[in-house]
Amino acid sequence: MRDLAIIPDGALLIEDGRIVQAGPRVEIERLITASDSVIDAGRRIVLPGFVDAHTHPVFAGNRAAEFERRSEGATYAEIAAQGGGIRSTVRQTRAASEDQLFDSARRYVRWFQAGGTTTIEAKSGYGLTLDDECKLLRVIGRIQDLRCVPTFLGAHEIPDEFRAHPSEYTDLVIHQMLPAVANQRIAQFCDIFCEPGIFSIEESRRVLSAARSLGLGLRMHADQLSDSGGAALAAELHASTADHLEHTSARGILALQSAGVQPVLLPGSVYALGSTRYPAAREMIQAGLAVVLATDFNPGSSPTPSMPMILSLACTQMKMTPAEAITACTINAAYSLGLGNEIGSLESGKQADFVIHDCTDYREIAYFFGAPAVQAVYIAGLPVWTRLTH
Ligand code: NIG
Ligand code: FE
Repeated sequence: MRDLAIIPDGALLIEDGRIVQAGPRVEIERLITASDSVIDAGRRIVLPGFVDAHTHPVFAGNRAAEFERRSEGATYAEIAAQGGGIRSTVRQTRAASEDQLFDSARRYVRWFQAGGTTTIEAKSGYGLTLDDECKLLRVIGRIQDLRCVPTFLGAHEIPDEFRAHPSEYTDLVIHQMLPAVANQRIAQFCDIFCEPGIFSIEESRRVLSAARSLGLGLRMHADQLSDSGGAALAAELHASTADHLEHTSARGILALQSAGVQPVLLPGSVYALGSTRYPAAREMIQAGLAVVLATDFNPGSSPTPSMPMILSLACTQMKMTPAEAITACTINAAYSLGLGNEIGSLESGKQADFVIHDCTDYREIAYFFGAPAVQAVYIAGLPVWTRLTH
């Protein structure tokens, strides 16, 4: 993960949105003709676009009032137990139309681009009825200028109307929502919030097994608030990823390693919840796991779309090196989405999703935190976002 294969004074030859060749500028310049157009990065750092493999970008309203309460000492779990948290966003999101949600998602798309992200994995999970979950997945399907991999997260929380009989909601997810979502082909993965008091290990096993039999890939919110055996379940089911893992034990790490499950670490949620319990990134890297970093962008636990911010947290709080952090949110993230041959690095044959960062040393991206460092963002060789320069 520390080997970035940097090409000093490099260049890319792009044709029809794909990289034909990456190499030293002098070699690439020999291959171009007078009619080719040239993008001059001005000797700045060019990286693959960030692949943010865990986001919740479709929701209505915000939770600024809860944020204020947490600033005064209330906890995320207390607010959720009182009917706030995810359920508060669900109420607001159900009341919003598809077009309203699309408009708010477009605002967040600009934010992702401004941080150098070109691909996101995007979850539903704030509808929690069949119609509302499909509404969210349709919004994800309409997003442009950002590659999106849709994930069905109907098992995100028990909605208000099922609080008295929660197992009926799990049955609804398994017997109605999952078949409909698979049938409409509006999701590639299925995820679940596996946590005592939300969805138990046994319920998570049932939901994810049903999803797999319908052809969906598996991801999991695991061991976020307690060590409940989430990582072990992800390993048992050979899920693509186990995400969060703040409380995963050494045994859980071993299970992920032996099953080839990729950990997706979300330090933005640890930071924003005011916790200091970051996942054990070093132990995971030591175990040979292809660690992924993502924002977990959502209105509650992690309201940041910024991958540079996540790089900073990974280096300062989890002691990953800048190179490891960049690997985690480019090529490793791409593999976690099944897109390792398409995106995530600047190599011939891959899609030309790249970002010009306004620096000459890649370590600056993690080092200057909160600074606007992205100069321009390209997807399939075309500009989708450019910083206004003064
Ligand atoms: O990944 N843990 C569950 N889901 C989100 C939080 C969603 C919310 O608070 O709205 C997470 O942290
Ligand atoms: Fe999440």
